[in-house]
Amino acid sequence: MKSSPWWKQATIYQIYPRSFFDSNGDGEGDLPGIISKLEYVQELGVDAIWLSPFYTSPNKDGGYDVADPRDVDPRFGNLDDAKKLIQVAHSLGLKVIVDVVPNHFSDQHIWFQQALRAKRGSAERARFHFYDANEDGTPPNNWISLFGGPSWTQVEDGQYYLHLFDSSQPDLNWDNPEVASDYEVTLRFWLDLGVDGFRIDVAHGLVKENLLTNHPDPQGISDALRLDVSMDPEIRYALLPTVPYFDRQGVHEIYRKWRKLFDSYKDRDIMAVAEAWVHPPINSTRYVRSDELHQVFNFDLLDAPFKSDFLYEVVNRSIELMDSVGALPTWALSNHDSPRVASRIGEVQARALALFVLALPGSCYVFAGQELGLPDGEIPDSSRQDPIYIRTKGVQKGRDGARVPLPWSGETAPFGFTTGKPWLPLTDKWKELTVEKQSVDPKSTLNLFRTALKLRADHLIDQGSIRWLESPEHGSKSSSLLGVRRGNVSIYMNLSDSAAEVEITGKLLTVSAGIVDSRDGKVTIPPISTVWVHH
Ligand code: GLC
Ligand code: CA
Repeated sequence: MKSSPWWKQATIYQIYPRSFFDSNGDGEGDLPGIISKLEYVQELGVDAIWLSPFYTSPNKDGGYDVADPRDVDPRFGNLDDAKKLIQVAHSLGLKVIVDVVPNHFSDQHIWFQQALRAKRGSAERARFHFYDANEDGTPPNNWISLFGGPSWTQVEDGQYYLHLFDSSQPDLNWDNPEVASDYEVTLRFWLDLGVDGFRIDVAHGLVKENLLTNHPDPQGISDALRLDVSMDPEIRYALLPTVPYFDRQGVHEIYRKWRKLFDSYKDRDIMAVAEAWVHPPINSTRYVRSDELHQVFNFDLLDAPFKSDFLYEVVNRSIELMDSVGALPTWALSNHDSPRVASRIGEVQARALALFVLALPGSCYVFAGQELGLPDGEIPDSSRQDPIYIRTKGVQKGRDGARVPLPWSGETAPFGFTTGKPWLPLTDKWKELTVEKQSVDPKSTLNLFRTALKLRADHLIDQGSIRWLESPEHGSKSSSLLGVRRGNVSIYMNLSDSAAEVEITGKLLTVSAGIVDSRDGKVTIPPISTVWVHH
């Protein structure tokens, strides 16, 4: 049974187009490549795909530097391919979500090219944030770009423009009505082509304030905002609420207008999910008020340690917070900006956590490759492409590790991903991780995902919320056990390296690792493992 509307408890599979499947041997994944693998995606049991950007782009930031938001970059194919992808996905029962990047354009977008040629104070410059230099020639404030280096770049006549990310990604000025109306054209363009929703990049960033004010620790906040930079959670969560350029109240006005636009597509159930990592966490609920967006990403599991108290806190708080506005949480363990979960917390741990999270109420985002248990790729510095690596002069390695192409088949790299040279190298060590190998191994991570997604649909998603059975605050068991009951299923995650015993009777639905011993009203949960038991 599917819950309604479709997105409420959907499992959404994130495809990074460049790394999925290459159809023409140029070493980069593309839209025809995705089309040819949609049956694989459908067999996984997910409800929807989210496509990271495939728009016209010089690709300085993996396509999040958009030069024409209403066209397809030739490296990925063309608009007909996009149409076909949507049609084929729909014919397989998959919804399609596309990424939109409204915070900034590429410096190759015609507007920015016009702004460079125009004068200070012109209408062309007013689409971005151009300011004069300070008297001593320095930039208007001391902010550090999220990719390292200053957030401002100077142009020929001495003015500076703001870019929270790479210098090739000038931030748009959302106080300018022209920017807002152009973006509505973009949203309609994709809706008219048939997409079912949007992932809104840097959704909390559109409105800028404090543009002429310095921050006491600009490098600190820039690092804290990056999930690929490891940091003591206490330091991180103390810095985050001080970020001056995100989560301004004005963004909500924008989403109220967008919501009206979405709802004007009356019989379509259009959804939008905000990439908005805001602090304190209560602020995230504002993005999903009933007249705004449908979902907001929950980033807390992307850097969460594999510790029961921390995970309990995150899960509990996320459900309660979203409940306060009548929304459901979202869950993600990996994405294209963070280290892969199998590398971050360990392979077995990642399986256990995935199986736990797939039982929770709300929507689950699965980053392509996560279902294979892929670790981060091993990338020689000479092959790195992330602007973070370049802008920090190698001090930070960046996010390429999570973006290595998928291994499909065969015994040696690049494992069928391409007939050419892959844009990032795959390693021969992934021999056992290919789709081909894992498909026929009942114990593989791929089959764990397939099984779990089916069981989730059959037994869990119509069952309301969870009730805690074991946690640091509930139950009486060891502090390394988390247990919840949802509908007729009990879900236990054992985080310790010794087996744990619980008193329940029922039928084992699935287990993430190890062998479950169940007799005399007791179930033994293997070390570092999650079990689902049906009553
Ligand atoms: C988002 C994207 C990231 C990109 C950045 C700038 O955080 O997920 O990949 O680099 O925005 O667009
Ligand atoms: Ca290609």
